[in-house]
Amino acid sequence: MPYIYISIKMMKKIGVLTSGGDAPGMNACIRSIVRTAISNNIKVIGIQRGYQGLLEKDFIEMGPRSVSNIIQRGGTILKTSRCEDFKRWDGREKAVNRLKEMNIDGIVVIGGDGTFHGAKKISEEWEVKIIGVPGTIDNDIYGTDYTVGFDTAVNTAVEAVDKIRDTAGSHDRQFIIEVMGRHAGFIALEVGMSCGAEEILIPERKTLIKKIAQRIMEGKISGKTSYIIIVGEGDEEGDAFEISHKLNRITGLEFKICVLGHIQRGGSPSAIDRILGTKLGIWAVESLLKGETGKMIGEVDSKPHLTPLEDTWEKKKSIDDRLMDWLKILSL
Ligand code: F6P
Repeated sequence: MPYIYISIKMMKKIGVLTSGGDAPGMNACIRSIVRTAISNNIKVIGIQRGYQGLLEKDFIEMGPRSVSNIIQRGGTILKTSRCEDFKRWDGREKAVNRLKEMNIDGIVVIGGDGTFHGAKKISEEWEVKIIGVPGTIDNDIYGTDYTVGFDTAVNTAVEAVDKIRDTAGSHDRQFIIEVMGRHAGFIALEVGMSCGAEEILIPERKTLIKKIAQRIMEGKISGKTSYIIIVGEGDEEGDAFEISHKLNRITGLEFKICVLGHIQRGGSPSAIDRILGTKLGIWAVESLLKGETGKMIGEVDSKPHLTPLEDTWEKKKSIDDRLMDWLKILSL
């Protein structure tokens, strides 16, 4: 039975939560949601620790001052979690009852595809009014050019790889640097291009170990003294360690490894992520007020763009194949 039968004009209180992996720029988005809602005379409840906090009634009332001085901060002031209980029907039923007890008329959920799967379920099963905002460093969400956090994560990784390049050059070494992205190569591709890497290994493209080994040896003959390989963590040939073993077996060369890991998720958001988070926050509240639900608000070609939640994971955002092709020319 749907419980929210309100007209758009009657929307008095909304909830906001962040869920899944945190991403720089989420705080800018929370700030924008809270202030946009309040300026429309709508109360805002912060739901802490994502869907887990919703189940456990971890709520705080938010005002304009509760989001002061956060636009520049990484992480999420609302905290986040990956909630197993929410994957079950009874868990979701409990969560929806919490919304009802609090008289929450609609919610904005900021996160990635796991977050949107949960959102889709409660919007369908109980007709909860819900809008998703893409917040993940992976950028693997269909329906938006970029996700909040991606730009900062790329810049963090680029800074790290630049430093590694200094020492790789000084010692004439080969490095394999693993970046995040779960099953997607967006971070690896942009980091590799920005850093002038010799190779970029991503799940979207078949990795041909023998060919890479051959190019490394040819590079040595042509005078290359160091070699930078960027590996997306989801590559089908394995992680940085496995790839290093495979390349070592063929070339006999030593490969130094650096797994950048969670440093890519932290830090002060870039201006691009602050602005994207801010825009999407405003558009998310506006969408709820217009009666939109079960959709994600993204930005496509600088304009707001709503996508049904299921499309955000069922349709696949494609990587820019040209970059992979150009890499071969640029790494000569
Ligand atoms: O989805 C964001 C992300 O950072 C992925 O790139 C990575 O695979 C995953 O989260 C790591 O998740 P956790 O922090 O839960 O280990």
